[in-house]
Amino acid sequence: MEKKFKRIGVLTSGGDSPGMNAVVRAVARTAMYYGIECIGIKRGYAGLINSDFVVLNADSVRHIVGRGGTILYTARSDEFMTEKGREKAVATCKMLGLDGIVAVGGDGTFKGALELSRLGVPVMGIPATIDNDIGCSNYTIGFDSACNTAIDCVDKLRDTMQSHERCSVVEVMGRHAGFLALYVGIAVGATAVLIPERELDFDKDVIERIQNSRLAGQTHFMIIVAEGVGSAITIGERIKEAIGIDPRVTVLGHIQRGGAPTGRDRETATRMGYMAVKAFYEGRSGSVICTREGGIVEIPIEEALAMKKHLQMDRYEILEAIAASGAQVK
Ligand code: F6P
Repeated sequence: MEKKFKRIGVLTSGGDSPGMNAVVRAVARTAMYYGIECIGIKRGYAGLINSDFVVLNADSVRHIVGRGGTILYTARSDEFMTEKGREKAVATCKMLGLDGIVAVGGDGTFKGALELSRLGVPVMGIPATIDNDIGCSNYTIGFDSACNTAIDCVDKLRDTMQSHERCSVVEVMGRHAGFLALYVGIAVGATAVLIPERELDFDKDVIERIQNSRLAGQTHFMIIVAEGVGSAITIGERIKEAIGIDPRVTVLGHIQRGGAPTGRDRETATRMGYMAVKAFYEGRSGSVICTREGGIVEIPIEEALAMKKHLQMDRYEILEAIAASGAQVK
């Protein structure tokens, strides 16, 4: 039987996340295993348009399983949003003899992948973003690493907040989703966590919590704010205005996107990279590799893009109960 996929490309697109290199390595290694050539496309879809690529072999992906960032670089391409840009990308696929593309990133990346597949290029998507906000997959590569980075930072902040008996307001990433904020908040024992999925009642959600916590004997306070709620600086100012304490504000920013991926991210990335290439090898394409209850599955891209994932609000209730510091339910 003639092999359908002889040469494939892999690209990373959108915001980077720890574990992307582990995917690139798994894709390249699995391709080699199946006798398929593998090309790394640089800077996401921009690299497809500009024919910017590197041949991946055993040497080029050696020792990158634990390295943060992406050796292929990443970008958000405006040109790819245009018909002309996409035509150029398809022309590059033909010129390079690419029989398929593995696209690693978030929803924007999968929208691009869908466009490519509609133009006749077989694609497989792999979800990677620290926000964990991809509807089709329970888990996205990089989330665990980002949580651990943020937790490490907040633990350090807590030391100095405790010494000075201060209030800390920490902004974590998450433009549209509070997964990172809520997980980190639970893990650090935050006084309050503000997330975009929940309408903010400032007095109840922040001020009352600080006051209850103080009544229960706490002398320092940790408020975690998801980026999507608004500026932590403003939250800090409002706290000062309301109760006179002068919080210290920290915006963790892009530090959350860097660093070595955790074991969970390396392992998930490796399994997903393998599954994407195996699908090509077995003649399938047009899906996103997703984690669902019970394992890793392929979900057709269009269906995957339409799926929604909701933050588990029971986790918010847990946080409320634990952070109440002895205050009874009224
Ligand atoms: O999507 C991941 C993310 O890290 C968001 O949480 C954040 O709002 C955004 O990317 C920041 O993007 P940029 O790299 O363009 O600053």
